[in-house]
Amino acid sequence: MTEPLDLYDQAGAADRPRYGRTGPLRVRVPAKVNLHLGVGPLRADGFHELVTVYHAIGLYDEITVRRASTMVLTMDGEGAATLPVDEDNLVVRAVRALAARTGTPPSVRLHLAKQIPIAAGLAGGSADAAATLVACDALWGTGLSRDELAEVAAELGSDVPFLIYGGTALGTGRGERISPVLAGTRSWHWVVAAADGGLSTPEVYRELDRLRAAAQPTVHLGRNDGDLESPHDLLTALRQRDPEVLAAALRNDLQSAAVSLRPQLAATIEAGVAAGAVAGFVSGSGPTCVFLAADAASAQVVARLLADSGVCRFARPTTGPVPGARVI
Ligand code: C5P
Repeated sequence: MTEPLDLYDQAGAADRPRYGRTGPLRVRVPAKVNLHLGVGPLRADGFHELVTVYHAIGLYDEITVRRASTMVLTMDGEGAATLPVDEDNLVVRAVRALAARTGTPPSVRLHLAKQIPIAAGLAGGSADAAATLVACDALWGTGLSRDELAEVAAELGSDVPFLIYGGTALGTGRGERISPVLAGTRSWHWVVAAADGGLSTPEVYRELDRLRAAAQPTVHLGRNDGDLESPHDLLTALRQRDPEVLAAALRNDLQSAAVSLRPQLAATIEAGVAAGAVAGFVSGSGPTCVFLAADAASAQVVARLLADSGVCRFARPTTGPVPGARVI
C-alpha cells in the first residue's frame, strides 16, 4: 500500500453537503478495449480526431470513499506503487473537478484497489477517474446525471466519459463524445494478455504519425491512412452473434505503431491465435493484447496457453460488454 496523500482543504463538518451518504461507499469500474479505433489527422490542439467503438470488459478497479475533513488517497494492487500520489493523480484531479463543478469542498477519504494494469491501453487511469466522479457524486449527494458526470469526465481525459457509461458505445471527437450504439445483446468472450511494462499513449500516437509520414508518398496504406470511416461493418457484426464475423470487422489504427515500438507484441498475438482465439489485436495504444474467443471454454484454454507460453505477464478470460462505473 502507498503512503496516504493528505491534501489539506479547509472543509469543516459544517461545510459538508446536507445530502449524500457518510460512506463507506464502493464503486466498481471496468477496463475498456477499442473494437474499432480509426485515427484521423493530428489536430491543432495536439489530439487526433478519432472514430472509435469502445467496449467495457470485466476487468475491474474499485474505489472506496468515506467522509473526511481533508482529501486522503491510498492505493494498492496492480501497479499502484508506481502511480503519482500528487495533483497529477487522475483520482485527485477527478475529486477537484467534481468539487469545482458542484461548489463542494474536495474533502474525501479514498482507497483505490487496482486490478487493471497501468499504461496498458485499457484506460485504467481513466477508469479510476470515472469511478471517483461517480463515488464522490454519491457520497457528497451532488446528484449529477450521468451526462453531467460525462461532461466533467471529458476535462480529465479522452476515455473518461465512456467509463461513466460502459457497455459498447461510439466515441468521436478526441474520443470524449459518446453516443450509444445498437450493439445487440450478446456477451462476447475475451482474453486479456497483460504485457511487462507499459507504453506511453502520446508516444504511440507520435509513432503512428511518423509511420504515416514515412509511408505516405509511395505506399498505399489501405485503411490505415488517416481516413475516418464509419465503423459500419463492426456495428453490423456486433448485432450478429458470430465471433468469426466480429473478428473480421475489428480494427485498430494504433496497432502498427504499438508493434513498431514493441515488436514482441506480434508474437503475443500469434501465440493467442495459435492457441485457438478467433482474433487477436492490440488494445488501444497497447501493450495489452486482447483475444476474441468463440466461447467461455475456448477463452479458458487460450488464457492458459498464453500464460504458459511466456509471451505475456498474465492472461485472463473475461466477457463484455459490462456496465460502466457503478456503486456496488
Ligand atoms: O486524453 P488523454 O489524456 O487520454 O490523452 C493522452 C494523450 O494521448 C494526449 O496528450 C495525446 O498525446 C494522445 N491522444 C491523441 N489523440 C486522441 C487521444 C489521445 O493524440 N484522440
